Amino acid sequence: MAGSGGTAGRRLLLNPAIFGLLGDVGGRWVLDAGCGQGYLSRLLAERGASVVGVDASRRLLDHAEALEARRAQGISYRQRDLSRLGDVGGPFDAVVANMVFLDIADWRPALANCVDALGPGGRLVYSLLHPCWVSGASSRWPETGCVELREYLNEYEVPGGPGGGPNSTGRSPRT
Ligand SMILES: C[S@@+](CC[C@H](N)C(=O)[O-])C[C@H]1O[C@@H](n2cnc3c(N)ncnc32)[C@H](O)[C@@H]1O
Repeated sequence: MAGSGGTAGRRLLLNPAIFGLLGDVGGRWVLDAGCGQGYLSRLLAERGASVVGVDASRRLLDHAEALEARRAQGISYRQRDLSRLGDVGGPFDAVVANMVFLDIADWRPALANCVDALGPGGRLVYSLLHPCWVSGASSRWPETGCVELREYLNEYEVPGGPGGGPNSTGRSPRT
């Protein structure tokens, strides 16, 4: 992940949208659901939020924790499967899941658990890849000059998608 604000796509597109939707996070409890190596957790903490970051990947959390050890921001990281989240210290004022649900084959319980982690009036902010970039159709746009989407609102299978292997039948939610 390049730079402290994330990759260019995150710095230029996702971060402004996410922070615009979250509003002022100062003094708020925020769950970074699927925090990865914690770039967004750190940005949230810089803005005064109390942050819990959860992710399934031990390796990514090790990296996040190493950065927290180097520059303590009070972020608490936990290894959890969002589909079986359990108590992670909520209720939260906000839950943010940045490019996460599209990576979880069993995304419905993960989404429900994120909603359940919110306190009254809490806010869920999540981002997903636009379907035109995961449909396979996008690979033809240099020839066709456009990206054609046929089943925009339908759930569909991504060959080799979530779960990884070429025979994976994982499903990806559409926006
Ligand atoms: C595309 S990365 C996004 C990471 C981070 N939110 C960011 O924006 O950099 C998706 C993350 O979801 C995590 N993830 C995938 N399935 C998960 C699950 N069932 N429970 C928790 N985290 C999961 C992955 O380990 C990975 O860190």
